[in-house]
Amino acid sequence: MTSDFNRMHRETYCAEPFASPERIGRVTIVSSAQPWWEAATIYQIYPRSFADSNGDGVGDLNGIADRLDYLADLGIDAIWISPIFPSPMADFGYDVADYTDIDPRFGTLADFDVLLTKAHAIGLRVLLDFVPNHSSDRHAWFQQSRSSRDNPKRDWYIWRDPAPDGGPPNNWISDFGGPAWTFDEATGQYYSRAFLPEQPDLNWRNPHVRAAMLDAMRFWFGRGVDGFRLDVLWHIVKHADFPDNPVNDAYRDGMGEMHRVHQLHSTDQPEVHAIAAEMRDLADTHGAVLVGEIYLPVPKLMTYYGSANAPGVHLPFNFQLIEANWNAAELAQRITEYEAALPPGGWPNWVLGNHDRPRIATRVGSAQARVAAMLLLTLRGTPTLYQGDELGLPDAQVPPDRVQDPRELREPGIGLGRDPVRTPLPWTGEGGFSTGDPWLPIDPKHLSLNVAAQSDDPASMLTLYRRLLALRRATPALATGAIDGVKAEGDVLRYDRSDGPTRYRILLNLGDTAVPRDPADAILTTDPSGTADPDMLRPAEGLILKVS
Ligand code: NOJ
Repeated sequence: MTSDFNRMHRETYCAEPFASPERIGRVTIVSSAQPWWEAATIYQIYPRSFADSNGDGVGDLNGIADRLDYLADLGIDAIWISPIFPSPMADFGYDVADYTDIDPRFGTLADFDVLLTKAHAIGLRVLLDFVPNHSSDRHAWFQQSRSSRDNPKRDWYIWRDPAPDGGPPNNWISDFGGPAWTFDEATGQYYSRAFLPEQPDLNWRNPHVRAAMLDAMRFWFGRGVDGFRLDVLWHIVKHADFPDNPVNDAYRDGMGEMHRVHQLHSTDQPEVHAIAAEMRDLADTHGAVLVGEIYLPVPKLMTYYGSANAPGVHLPFNFQLIEANWNAAELAQRITEYEAALPPGGWPNWVLGNHDRPRIATRVGSAQARVAAMLLLTLRGTPTLYQGDELGLPDAQVPPDRVQDPRELREPGIGLGRDPVRTPLPWTGEGGFSTGDPWLPIDPKHLSLNVAAQSDDPASMLTLYRRLLALRRATPALATGAIDGVKAEGDVLRYDRSDGPTRYRILLNLGDTAVPRDPADAILTTDPSGTADPDMLRPAEGLILKVS
């Protein structure tokens, strides 16, 4: 199977641009009753580092548009683009100064429309990254809000008087370290900010904020976007009385400072669910998907699916694979618990990496990263794949004088920095990302893993991803079928996927010794040789077997 195989499938399934949700993707396997995103694979683009079309060293929308064929060939169905809105870039786009425009570094609204049209024409959906918890301090709303205590927009953000000693109103800590409050000299109050001082928290208890933010979502739905990833959704409502958070006794030096307290009152408040339901209502009228970024234990995560009367987001991001230790027993347990906890009708999803967390190839090593690819793409539920993981990129080395990430700059040297997972994608042996000087350096060790070199190499990680995605899209049991028999046998994680009488078995060897395997036909191996052994599962090998 080569990328031609993949292209053939795309042509079969996506011969024409889609006009309605039912037309996208694998029409052969998606019934019209099934939402498009259940059978889809999402690919996260970090736009600053994907492809630069104008030589300024920062990736842009035209760069993405130029590379859509690469994504179609890969076999994904939807792209989620990290924020592209006007921003001072204090947090590289997660500080939005205008929710309804495009930052000139990325292009224009017209460029966005072209990208969307081109993507749709080849059957790719486009998700934007909506940042509801906070805006930039340069947003006109905040400029007005901070201008005086009686400005009509004062209450659009969260302002509190100082504590009696003049310090912050409570003990809440920013996710990036330090107090979650910044004092405003001019008006003598603190504003809440869960991240940087440049990211003031919006006050979602104010109905005008809700209306304005939903209008911003409407703006993009009106242009044709297919959904949103919702940044830190569990953060957006804070306890109305601002009580201190409980102290975390397990805090130790070397942890991020945010862990000094449990975020009991500053996050995950019950009122968030009515807001998610409003957003969901809006998304559903556009056949769009909402993916919520939520880092919470499984039982709490499940509440973000909402209830029958008030459905929440379609896909509360499931970060189990990001947080798991890489052993078969733990993975089996996490998969089983997650599946068992899903509410009726709740569709699962899985994530292996993103722009905030160490890359999978670094976490588990390059051999096991191939096994991880098979795991991500054979579990039940919508997978999200992070740009560069399909090349097996490890975390990049970023020299100290090139560090950009505000998180690393604020809490240096304890492994919290995110630059290593945000460096430019290596398209060729020379880089091929930009004709200019890239905003973050390309790690020399990434150059040999470039797209061009991997494209025609049957043993490459890219070829493995293409094969897995092609098989998934052509195989109802793998795309949307049932899962059962999840268990660990020594170092081997195993489970079955089935659709009616058709049954596949997945065997993943997380260890370094060969073990005898079930006798059924091997459909796909992660082994670079491309051929399965008839009797044995090799060390660090994943196999998909056709059982019936
Ligand atoms: C989560 C995003 O993924 C991260 O990159 C960002 O810094 C914070 N939210 C703040 O928006």
